[in-house]
Amino acid sequence: MRTLAWAWLACVAMAGVADAGRKPNVMLFLADDLGIGDLGCYGNTTIKTPNIDRLASEGARLTHHLAAAAMCTPSRAALLTGRYPVRYGLEQGHSGFPLPVLVHISSQAGLPADEVTIASALAASNYTTALVGKWHLGLNCTLFGRSCPGPLNHGFQSFFGIPVSLFQEFRGPHAFWKFPLHDRKFQGLAVAWVTAVVSLFLARRRNVLGGCGGVLLLLATHLILGLLWFTFAHLSMNDECRLGVSSWFMRYANSHLMRGDQAVEAPIQLDGLSQRLVEESRTFLKTHAHDETPFFLMHSFAHVHTPMFSAAHMAGRSRHGRYGDNVEEMDESVGGVLNTLAELGLADNTLVYFTSDQGGPSRPWTPTASASEVTTDASKVRTRARL
Ligand SMILES: *[C@@H]1O[C@H](CO)[C@@H](O)[C@H](O)[C@H]1NC(C)=O
Ligand SMILES: *[C@@H]1O[C@H](CO)[C@@H](O)[C@H](O)[C@H]1NC(C)=O
Ligand SMILES: *[C@@H]1O[C@H](CO)[C@@H](O)[C@H](O)[C@H]1NC(C)=O
Repeated sequence: MRTLAWAWLACVAMAGVADAGRKPNVMLFLADDLGIGDLGCYGNTTIKTPNIDRLASEGARLTHHLAAAAMCTPSRAALLTGRYPVRYGLEQGHSGFPLPVLVHISSQAGLPADEVTIASALAASNYTTALVGKWHLGLNCTLFGRSCPGPLNHGFQSFFGIPVSLFQEFRGPHAFWKFPLHDRKFQGLAVAWVTAVVSLFLARRRNVLGGCGGVLLLLATHLILGLLWFTFAHLSMNDECRLGVSSWFMRYANSHLMRGDQAVEAPIQLDGLSQRLVEESRTFLKTHAHDETPFFLMHSFAHVHTPMFSAAHMAGRSRHGRYGDNVEEMDESVGGVLNTLAELGLADNTLVYFTSDQGGPSRPWTPTASASEVTTDASKVRTRARL
C-alpha cells in the first residue's frame, strides 16, 4: 500500500497475534467530523468515552496523524487509498466536481474504479470485507438507479449504510406543496396561470376553440406551469434551496439506507440508526468469526455529523447537549462492537483502529445551525491536531 500519513487522531490496539497461522483480522472504526478534543483519551473531562479510552490505554494513542483533507469525501478517499485525493480528482474546484464533497446520490463523481483501497487490497489477500455505515465516495448508479454499487466497486463485498452523508434536511417532514407569493417568480407564475385559464375560458365562450382542442390546451398549460412550479419550488429557484434543491427534495432523493447496491429504507429512520449499525457489525462478526480466512470490517459512524440524533436512552445524557450525546452514543457503539469481538474470542487476533475522517466543525454546534453553517475548516483541524 502506498504511504501517506492517514488521519490525525487514532487509537490502535491489538493484544497480540494468537494464531500465527491466520492473518489478523482488521477492524476500522471511522467517526464523522469528530473533534480531537471531544474524547477522554485526548483530555476531555466532561464527555464520557470509556470504550475509546480503553482502546487507547490498551494500545497506542497517536497525537500527530494528519488527514489529507478537511472534508468528508476527499479525506475518506485518502484514508482508504493512501493517496492524496487531488491525484484522482476528489478535490475542490476540479472540473465536473465543483464541491469538495458529494451531495447527491445521483452524482456520477466518485472514487475512480481503478484506485486501490484498503478493502480491495485485503480482499485480494482473501480477506472477507464489509462496510457498515457511511460511504460518501460515489455510487456510480446505473441508468435509472436500479443498481448503485458504490463500495461494492471498491473492494467491499458487502455494504449496509448511508451512501452519501447525513444532511440537516434528513430530519423531516418538509412541505411539498408551497406557493410563496412574496417571491417574484411565484407571483409571475400565478399571473401566467390566471391569464392562461381566463384566455382559454374566453376563447371557448367565443367558440374560437371547439371540441377537444380547449381541453388539450388546458392540460398542456397546466403541465408546463406545473413543471415550472416544481422547478421554482424544489430545484434551486428559491431562498430555501440549499445545495441545489429544496429540503423536501433533499430528503426524498438522498435519505436512503442501502444494503448492497439497493436502497432498503427511505427516508432513513435516524433515531436508533447507531444501534442498527452496531447490530449489523455484530452479525458480520458472528458470521465470520470462525471462517478460515480473516476479515476486514469498516464500521463507519453516522455520528457525530449533523443532524444530531440519538436513541431515546442516550438523549440528554451528556453535559454538552445533543453533540455530547452523539459522542457518547458513538462511544457506546464502539463498546458494543468490541464486546462482541471479545465474546467471540477474536480480540487477540484483531487489529483495531479508531479514527475520525477529519476535525470537528469549525463553529460550535447550535440547535438552529444548518449543516451548511457547520463546515469544517482546515486551519482549525491543523491547530487541533497539534493538541
Ligand atoms: C469536551 O468537549 C466539549 C464538546 O466539544 C467541549 O465543549 C469541552 O470544552 C471539552 N472539554 C474539555 C475539558 O476539553
Ligand atoms: C462507473 O461504472 C462504469 C461502468 O459501469 C465504469 O466504467 C466507470 O469507471 C465507473 N466510474 C466510477 C467513478 O467508479
Ligand atoms: C487465496 O486463496 C486461494 C485459494 O484458497 C489461494 O490459492 C491463494 O494463495 C490465496 N491468496 C493469498 C494472497 O493468500
